[in-house]
Amino acid sequence: MTSETSTTTSATANLGRFTVNRIGYGAMQLAGPNVFGPPADPENAKAVLRHAVDSGVDHIDTAQIYGPDVVNDLIREALHPYPEGLVLATKVGGARDERGAWLPAGDPADLKRQVEENLRSLQVERLDLVNLRRFERDHPDVAEPALEDQLAALNELRDEGKIDMIGISNAGLAGVRTAIAAGAVGVQNAFSILDRADDDIVELCREHGIAFVPFFPLGSAFGGGGPNRLAADEHVNAVGRKHDATASQVALAWLLARYERMLLIPGTASIAHLDENLAVGRITLDAEDLARLDEVEPFTPAA
Ligand SMILES: NC(=O)c1ccc[n+]([C@@H]2O[C@H](COP(=O)([O-])OP(=O)(O)OC[C@H]3O[C@@H](n4cnc5c(N)ncnc54)[C@H](OP(=O)(O)O)[C@@H]3O)[C@@H](O)[C@H]2O)c1
Repeated sequence: MTSETSTTTSATANLGRFTVNRIGYGAMQLAGPNVFGPPADPENAKAVLRHAVDSGVDHIDTAQIYGPDVVNDLIREALHPYPEGLVLATKVGGARDERGAWLPAGDPADLKRQVEENLRSLQVERLDLVNLRRFERDHPDVAEPALEDQLAALNELRDEGKIDMIGISNAGLAGVRTAIAAGAVGVQNAFSILDRADDDIVELCREHGIAFVPFFPLGSAFGGGGPNRLAADEHVNAVGRKHDATASQVALAWLLARYERMLLIPGTASIAHLDENLAVGRITLDAEDLARLDEVEPFTPAA
């Protein structure tokens, strides 16, 4: 599967028309437990955001449904007015019920309303990148609006100047192809050394020269604990010892080596973990490391 894996890493890559540092930050972990409700320590959450930007992060991933209505507010409170060059990527197409379950809400009218909510909460006139979050994988039994109609609605908002760029999230190969044809500049799907099911989509991104932004890059905090699983893996640990790196750092370095337009958004509410994740750029895996890491047993977390 690693036929085209690169062993060199560059510090930046393109996200549509922007050039960003390849190690960004995912803000989902800043909400309360299970991404539901406010965090116990909002000041810590804001300190993490400020530390990320002060350390050179110029790509932050968020969503109105983180909380919901919590994480975007934390980002605005911590970082507005935003520094020049900071790319805020958000997503639309989903909702939360009163118990925190993730539900599809992707009718064109929903998408337009969610774009307006994001504009208001982030306090921007135009959203840099809006990912259309599909639910075809989480809820294959639930009918979703036609992807073409959803993309057309987002492109209308782009024409109106409310969105700069669009992307696609949680879609399968066919959906990603449709989204690319409609102008998507990147794909945000689950992908990690533990979950390589979307290898074909990474290759599709390579063919089109667009970004792949893996979520759950450490294998996810949900359903089995990716970081713990990584820390227990003998192959990951062997490579870690060689590079004086933690298991999480090896997993992130593997992603950087997988594709030159792989942009990382590891999530953490810890400044120590954030620093650890940002330091991954120093690690260059060689062919022997990558062959060893091919042995890591795949694991797909429960949703
Ligand atoms: N499009 C979508 O549907 C979708 C879905 C999920 C996530 N996302 C986005 O993707 C981002 C990344 O996903 P994620 O945050 O769920 O998954 P992840 O990065 O795979 O895992 C996050 C977990 O790893 C821990 N962690 C982070 N850095 C660590 C380190 N250096 N050592 C040990 N543990 C570490 C975090 O805990 P601590 O807080 O203790 O560090 C947290 O429990 C999210 O923040 C979100 O922006 C998008």
